[in-house]
Amino acid sequence: MERRPVVIANWKMELSHKASTEAANAIKKLLKDVKVDIDIVICPSYTVLEDVKQVIAQSEKLQLGAQNVHWEENGPYTGEVSVTQLTPLVKWCIVGHSEQRALTGETDEIVQHKADLLLQHGIAPIICIGETLEERQADQTVEKLTRQMSVLLGKATRVALTKMVIAYEPIWAIGAAQTPEPDDIAGSMLLLRKLTAERFGNEVAQRLRIVYGGSVTPKNIGSIMAEPGIDGALVGGASLHPMDFVEIIKAVQAAQQ
Ligand code: PGA
Repeated sequence: MERRPVVIANWKMELSHKASTEAANAIKKLLKDVKVDIDIVICPSYTVLEDVKQVIAQSEKLQLGAQNVHWEENGPYTGEVSVTQLTPLVKWCIVGHSEQRALTGETDEIVQHKADLLLQHGIAPIICIGETLEERQADQTVEKLTRQMSVLLGKATRVALTKMVIAYEPIWAIGAAQTPEPDDIAGSMLLLRKLTAERFGNEVAQRLRIVYGGSVTPKNIGSIMAEPGIDGALVGGASLHPMDFVEIIKAVQAAQQ
């Protein structure tokens, strides 16, 4: 089963308004003559979504995503952004990022609810899961991922699984200049796919896209993508540098050929 790879730039709260539109422009230019048949998603801050959307408007290679969404469609939530406010702007939205979970105490159930809401509104969720360093050291990675997947799969439909992207991000590898060994990453992906197959059958599991996130660079992406079952990457730090990000895109593109 062919799965279309996906590379996501998560710009977090790192770039000014000007730097965001400039970076989007630079990525667009660098990709001008590059053959692209993967999904490339840029996730800037809410405040620049509109302007980055305009920058990438004529590029059929770039898509726009948000970094988070509230779990209600509207209401008295000062400072929050709802799915209905995002629908005119984005096709994608990250949910359950470990930084957001740490800030707000977001549970797997809330993350699942957000993913569901996004899907109902035609936005594809990029759902982040992964273990902490303590959990890894205590040999609890499998248990943690199994629990997180079971919440996500509990209410998912077959159709939803073909639209969402799971981002496996070991929390200790985020912004840390270290990653698990590529075969270790592939092992976790295999577990996630196996858990999906147990519930929905192999055909559906083979259509679910699962990407890796955590200190992805132009240097390590090749060896990560050389492993089976890895459908792309969620890139933080390296995505702030257009040339590095485009190198990562090219490596993912090359890996599927
Ligand atoms: P990083 O961030 O690439 O800087 O580790 C990844 C992420 O947090 O999504």
